[in-house]
Amino acid sequence: MTVYSRITGTGSYLPEKVLTNRDLEQFVDTSDEWIFSRTGIRQRHIAADGENTSDLALVASRRALEAAGLEPKDIDLLIVATTTADMVFPSTACLLQAKLGIANCPAFDMQAVCSGFVYALSTADHLVKSGQYRHALIVGAEVYSRILDWKDRGTCVLFGDGAGAVVLSRSKHPGILASRLHADGRYAHILSVPGSVSRGEVCGRPLLQMEGNAVFKLAVKVLGEVAHETLAAAGLAKSELDWLIPHQANIRIIQATAKKLGLSMERVIATVDRHANTSAASVPLALDEAARDGRIKPGQHVMLEGVGGGFTWGAVLLRW
Ligand code: UT7
Repeated sequence: MTVYSRITGTGSYLPEKVLTNRDLEQFVDTSDEWIFSRTGIRQRHIAADGENTSDLALVASRRALEAAGLEPKDIDLLIVATTTADMVFPSTACLLQAKLGIANCPAFDMQAVCSGFVYALSTADHLVKSGQYRHALIVGAEVYSRILDWKDRGTCVLFGDGAGAVVLSRSKHPGILASRLHADGRYAHILSVPGSVSRGEVCGRPLLQMEGNAVFKLAVKVLGEVAHETLAAAGLAKSELDWLIPHQANIRIIQATAKKLGLSMERVIATVDRHANTSAASVPLALDEAARDGRIKPGQHVMLEGVGGGFTWGAVLLRW
């Protein structure tokens, strides 16, 4: 019997504090008009002092488990996609595992920046399909507010904090139809946090830096390519796609990707206006919103896409 994997529950969490573009105007040389017209962003959520990635991940995970009708003890594989780990080690996945009150299942972090959730979901799909795992918990969680230079208007206005989670369960019916992952380290320099910890000190600059235009162009190119590649791998035509859930970095990148797929914006889930770019959390946050408000219906085809630092990109195509 063929084994498939299916998403059986979704959950998400946004920190309470909202920082609007107008709030930013108070301490950065920017304007609501500039930010909204260039990016589609109106506001972002910011984690409270002492609220860490694993705390955000915990709330999103509990909500996903509840939606799946499962208990933490039912989880036998745990992956956290994050670029903003609580500490150098243990992994945020291990810290989350303890907070969920479970032990023994494999738990590890996936570091593929804004593509992290799509990387983690694709990886979990293959592990679940191997027949070894029954219920995987896959989380994308970030506190980007801690790695931003709040004096750099070119980057600090673009990001926010949040977490999204899914339960991926073994199933007789698909589920995930196809996924494709890519990376090209030659573009490492266009989006990075070039700092590290060495001999008890922080070395380099532990704040996000980006060549915005280069990232923009590459993102539009690869998101179109990988969407077509993944549709072909599943043997589906683009006309059979019901929903596109792309990484939420910039509404103009999202619009360009939808256009390449011949999709109207009514078929695209966009949260960038309210969440800004939450890196690995952006796709599961948007997925949870659309799953809970009933936009995504059983049997529909959904394409998830990630793109970001590395440079990394990928897509997961699934039947809901
Ligand atoms: O997860 C993946 C990560 N990131 C992305 O996907 C982001 C990809 N890139 C982008 O979204 C866009 O390139 C940005 C939104 C970052 C920038 O938009 P742009 O249309 O490419 O603007 P630009 O960088 O060409 O900057 C235009 C001007 C510059 O002024 P001058 O040199 O023309 O006088 C900037 O200094 O806008 C200025 N500027 C700002 N002005 C007001 C840059 N940031 C701001 C700001 N407020 N926050």
